Amino acid sequence: MKTHRIAAVPGDGIGPDVIGAGLEVLSALAGRDGGFALDVETLPWGSGYYRAHGRMMPTDGLDTLKRFDAIYFGSAGSPEVPDHITLWGLRLAICQGFDQYANVRPARLLPGIASPLAGVGPNRLDWVIVRENTEGEYSGAGGRVHRGLPEEVAAEVSVFTRTGVTRIQRFAFELARTRPRKLLTLVTKSNAQRHGMVLWDEVFEDVSGDYPDIKTDKILVDAMTARMVLQPESIDTVVATNLHADILSDLAAALSGGMGLAPTANLNPPGDHPSMFEPIHGSAFDLVGKGIANPIGAFWTAALMLEHLGEGGAADRLMTALGRVTAAGETLPPDLGGRATTREVTGAVIAAIQASND
Ligand code: IPM
Ligand code: MG
Repeated sequence: MKTHRIAAVPGDGIGPDVIGAGLEVLSALAGRDGGFALDVETLPWGSGYYRAHGRMMPTDGLDTLKRFDAIYFGSAGSPEVPDHITLWGLRLAICQGFDQYANVRPARLLPGIASPLAGVGPNRLDWVIVRENTEGEYSGAGGRVHRGLPEEVAAEVSVFTRTGVTRIQRFAFELARTRPRKLLTLVTKSNAQRHGMVLWDEVFEDVSGDYPDIKTDKILVDAMTARMVLQPESIDTVVATNLHADILSDLAAALSGGMGLAPTANLNPPGDHPSMFEPIHGSAFDLVGKGIANPIGAFWTAALMLEHLGEGGAADRLMTALGRVTAAGETLPPDLGGRATTREVTGAVIAAIQASND
């Protein structure tokens, strides 16, 4: 029997609630399938760790993490620590340190979940957004001059490398190839941003030559927001820069039922380092201590992690169980219009896993 080693980093805010719930569901799946086991270690990193130690994780944090097959991450962010510290000290340190260059964000309507877009059901909204995850607008290049003075200047430099752009676009083409529509949309802003974005266009032109079976189209990011709302069925797989895809994926989450549902995978495609899986929603401090955080995003995320670990059967079982619970509509958390607590939603999903037959 295969044992997968998982590092759980629940982090801040509602991270511990949803990751705890996700670990329960994962253990129910391992028990139900019997074909694999999970060896989970929980690492207490995040803003609490920062207050005690002045760092979001230990200096040898990446050395600790590299012993694991995957990282199951909750959230980093707290009202008491500046956001750029929580982000750069943990999540970005892991994504960049482990070269997790492909951030994959599926968005589709789970059974029974309504889109805020009138008349849009599951057949019209089924997307995967591929986000470049290690450079671009999140490179961290730049600086501040004349700090605090009236003449202060801040430069925030986006760095796009041919290597970085090529590998993420190839990844997106490969992913598009696994989907029935075989359609990839490139999103840029190459009318206004005439260096990096034009490089993205040129690389796309080159790379697309290797994928004659994939239909392609190109659109500017501002027009893409309107297309997502007005013609959701015209979109399948999308590739975009770090910041553009960050913004588009929040819109995608909102259009497919809300932030509480959306999952993500931060992948290191060559497998040299562990990949990291997290719900998109963040810390949600308004929900802390109330026990009503929606764990479904963390469950869907767990399914992405299982797939990555080669446990496609368990991933499918989890998605089917999730779909049963969302379709029945009796045990939904408040952000989906229900009254169920995190524990109740978790219990319902575990019951659906146990009731499932092959
Ligand atoms: C996301 C989040 C993060 C990001 C935040 C928390 C910095 O919005 O995963 O989309 O921008 O990458
Ligand atoms: Mg975001």
